[in-house]
Amino acid sequence: MPKNQPPTYRIAPSILSADFARLGEEIKAVIAAGADWIHFDVMDNHYVPNLTFGPMICQALKPHAKKADGTPVPVDVHLMVQPVDALAAAFADAGADLISFHPEASGHVHRSVQAIKAKGCKAGLVFNPATPLDVLDWVIEDIDLILIMSVNPGFGGQSFIDSALRKIEQARKRIEASGKDIRLEVDGGIKADNIARVAAAGADTFVAGSAIFGKPDYKAVIDAMRAELVK
Ligand code: DX5
Ligand code: ZN
Repeated sequence: MPKNQPPTYRIAPSILSADFARLGEEIKAVIAAGADWIHFDVMDNHYVPNLTFGPMICQALKPHAKKADGTPVPVDVHLMVQPVDALAAAFADAGADLISFHPEASGHVHRSVQAIKAKGCKAGLVFNPATPLDVLDWVIEDIDLILIMSVNPGFGGQSFIDSALRKIEQARKRIEASGKDIRLEVDGGIKADNIARVAAAGADTFVAGSAIFGKPDYKAVIDAMRAELVK
């Protein structure tokens, strides 16, 4: 977000909490309800103790990631995998628009970032609750997105960890110092009743899984979140 301008907030529902038997319909429904991005949580049962979906599922779902008028809705791939590079390339080929990975999971962070960008995707780095932001000293110029985990990765439905707020503030300062247009996304435990605090700390993009897909009326939840963001 450029300095002194109000942020353009983005809400990115995580399909981790959607009905897996009806994923295409779920994506259409959540876009009709106002989703700005579709967040796609990729887990490998190695970097995290859970297993979700791979690039073939992303490719199958990509045609559903558009608004009723045909406008594409960005597919935001969050890789919780180790190693990173082969799957990042496969997700780029499968239609991902943004690809983020955890720096601990790559032997060569700068190379992984460049490889994602060479595929024409935006690149992001993800920081676990106990991971410092230091790597940004060396790669902030190269990335498009910083994703702060406010839960430990691996499962939906966990409680927001408050220390993420301090990390969001630090990340926002780094983004401002860089002068770059970098999204600051937060992932884990986001709900209508804490989203305003998270935005006040400096976040502009909000992942929410169980808060949206766990309720019958997706639009009511997304509207409630947006209402908190304009207060
Ligand atoms: C956790 C995932 C999150 C998760 C968030 O590893 O990265 O995206 O789906 O779920 P909620 O919103 O339920 O905390
Ligand atoms: Zn995620």
